[in-house]
Amino acid sequence: MARSPVSRLRCIACGRDYPLDQIRYECDACSGLVEVALDLDRLRREAPEGGWRSLFDGRLGVTGGPHRSGVWRYNELILPDLPAGRIVTKPEGNTNLYRSPRLEEVSGTAEVHVKHEGENPTLSFKDRGMTAGISFARHLGVTAVACASTGDTSAAMAAYAAQVDGLRGVVVLPAGKVSLEQLSQPVASGCLTLSLKADFDTCIRLLRDICRRKPIYLLNSVNPVRIEGQKSIGFEILQQLRWEPPDWIVVPVGNAGNISAIGKGLQELKALSVIDRAPRLLGAQAASAAPLAQAYREGYRRRVRVTAADTSASAIRIGDPVSYDKAVGVVRESGGFFESASEQEIMDAKALVDATGVYICPNPATAVAAFLTARAAGAIARDERVVIVATAHGCKFSKATIEYHGGRLPGVAPARANRIVEVEADVRAIERLLP
Ligand code: F0G
Repeated sequence: MARSPVSRLRCIACGRDYPLDQIRYECDACSGLVEVALDLDRLRREAPEGGWRSLFDGRLGVTGGPHRSGVWRYNELILPDLPAGRIVTKPEGNTNLYRSPRLEEVSGTAEVHVKHEGENPTLSFKDRGMTAGISFARHLGVTAVACASTGDTSAAMAAYAAQVDGLRGVVVLPAGKVSLEQLSQPVASGCLTLSLKADFDTCIRLLRDICRRKPIYLLNSVNPVRIEGQKSIGFEILQQLRWEPPDWIVVPVGNAGNISAIGKGLQELKALSVIDRAPRLLGAQAASAAPLAQAYREGYRRRVRVTAADTSASAIRIGDPVSYDKAVGVVRESGGFFESASEQEIMDAKALVDATGVYICPNPATAVAAFLTARAAGAIARDERVVIVATAHGCKFSKATIEYHGGRLPGVAPARANRIVEVEADVRAIERLLP
């Protein structure tokens, strides 16, 4: 007899539920966002002998099959109803968790780690959601997938879609607001790459509308299946800390899918008693695009939408986050909050972490800056343990890095500049500069 499903789609607003195999991003009854709801009672009843931790620990170091992926290692909790044969993996995940003595010293905090998601195959955390999204697209048998993107989602979608015969990818990007390295990724992977003279919020609004009318599977984080893959960032952090939860996880926030995913996953681990308490979440936004930080300051009285302005953290240049409600839900439930950071703070924080040999881009640097602010204000205490999620690699943002160190970034006076020195091709001239 076929196994009954462990998961369904459920509206986060009214609770109405739908089968998982339906292509659906919102509720018919109330237009609320939908999420994948796991049958936690059943998972509790059917918990593996020896417990979840030892099941997942036993898979560390496997060299073949989906379990070597840092997403599918947890497949009982991530799309358990997806047949294993459908999985499209590179594999992804298994990124390093770097202890940062420098951040501990600068901030005066007991323990700070950086989870470097830039070490994923396409250099960002988006691979975790995309292995889930593209695997599900294959399971559903769709022939076209699409996303609007500030760069990284499109890079990941394109690279995973390229692994599936007969699957066509379409990416919609805001012209001039995506780094050259990011832009090169969907082009290289063979996606139809559409560049719109519009901001990201407009790109996604147009694409959502098109996907309502055309048989194209939308792979933005409004897609509940993608969120499931991204939960694994939190799972991996906990496993790397030997299941001893940190006090805080700090996440840069744009469209707000990632923080929602991490929060959802942590709540599930707690419900299954894999952990006894869930870390608090700090969501970080660039000041020029900070609707959630504003909403927090206003006591979440109303839904805040802003017109995003330019920032070096262009991947989070989003004024109207799609997963707003989910993010507010998980952050409040965790006892956390949202904070914003200025351009100066973002780029100085980036240079601080980069100089430790952990090369990050301006988007996660926003999280580092927000952490420093929260720590200085005492919102994070001296004796706490903190993990900052570095969502993408510095190599995706060369221009911002070079302009910062050269003192050419508008509005930023670099506190940590490492200037490039132009020197004659002459031994003596070079030697004069050496230590
Ligand atoms: N950091 C990076 C490097 C990103 O690319 C993004 C989002 C975020 C943080 C924020 O994550 O949207 O889930 O809150 N990039 C999306 C994209 C919007 O299209 O690549 P989020």
